[in-house]
Amino acid sequence: MRLLVTGGAGFIGSNYVRRRLTNHPDDTVVVLDKLTYAGRRENLRELAEERLEFVEGDISDQAVVAGAIAGCDAVVNFAAESHVDRSIESPGEFINTDVFGAFVLLEAARDAGIRHLQVSTDEVYGSIEDGSFTESSPLEPSSPYSASKAGGDLIVRAFHHTYGSDTLICRSSNNYGPYQHPEKLIPLCVLNALAGDPLPVYGDGMQVRNWLYVEDNCAAIDAVLERGEAGEVYNVGGSDELPNIEVVRTILELAGRDESLIEHVSDRPGHDRRYSLASAKVQSLGWKAEVGFAAGIERTVGWYRDNASWWEPIRSGEYREYYERQYGRALG
Ligand code: NAD
Ligand code: TYD
Repeated sequence: MRLLVTGGAGFIGSNYVRRRLTNHPDDTVVVLDKLTYAGRRENLRELAEERLEFVEGDISDQAVVAGAIAGCDAVVNFAAESHVDRSIESPGEFINTDVFGAFVLLEAARDAGIRHLQVSTDEVYGSIEDGSFTESSPLEPSSPYSASKAGGDLIVRAFHHTYGSDTLICRSSNNYGPYQHPEKLIPLCVLNALAGDPLPVYGDGMQVRNWLYVEDNCAAIDAVLERGEAGEVYNVGGSDELPNIEVVRTILELAGRDESLIEHVSDRPGHDRRYSLASAKVQSLGWKAEVGFAAGIERTVGWYRDNASWWEPIRSGEYREYYERQYGRALG
């Protein structure tokens, strides 16, 4: 198979490309990535170069997409602006990429007559107090990020219904693991804990997330790409639901630090209280989450500890300015 992977230089996309090239020795992967602040060629280092083609470009650029998709048998779309806090600060880029870009890519897949898998999120359902979201729960997104992702999902749905496009949607819960940008809760707290800096916890820290180790998500995406039914949505939830404060405490323990580093800061506007997914449908394709949180977080902390050369350049660049804007005053 010749597979187009958009956003393949980001966190989940690069883990997916690594898995695909390793498990499918006859596959070629074409990565199309704009290399925003979140994407890095470095994330694809040491991969089989003869089976990996890299195109730097934007999924909302029709000509670029037409070139990248030529000769491909399927497309998996990871490309997105992905951070809720940045979407609160400046939502425009989220609409450009997560809605319009998703549309341009979908249209190219339709023209090519190939399968299109949209990588989406549990956040499109909004927040749930009790129980878990199924694939037929209504879409009630709360943030500009989740609203943009919901927009992308709805266009995918419409293309299947209207044109019979061979589409799939995977909605996963919060991922964590190697190569995640330190703007997100887990790597942010791991790096701050290793450095002895304060860990910013929004509000009371009792918001619940359904943590999914990134390799488990990549396995689910493969199961859906290979065995999913056209037009269907698949929820992909992790095995552990945890309040943020517990996640932060576990990280401190693994980093050998005490809880005095925890700093409760102002809550995120419109913050979703709890996410929870029912994943029976993807499980019926033979998938299940293999890595529990205790093992996954230990691996993740170990990876960041051993790979300072990966994150040091991030911490000193654009991220430094973002961090100052987001946390500067609150963390003194
Ligand atoms: P990420 O921010 O680490 O990576 C996004 C990648 O997309 C980067 O490489 C970036 O350069 C690229 N990109 C951004 N805009 C682009 C554009 N216009 N054209 C081409 N490339 C562009 O994100 P991630 O955490 O790896 O998330 C990947 C996908 O999974 C996203 O669609 C996200 O919504 C979804 N998702 C993420 C999580 C999570 O916990 N991280 C959970 C559920 C769903
Ligand atoms: P995040 O990693 O941004 O993912 P998402 O918002 O997509 O779920 O945040 C995970 C949880 O951690 C969320 O409830 C917000 C919270 N959080 C903090 O408490 N402090 C932080 O500095 C960040 C980035 C997140």
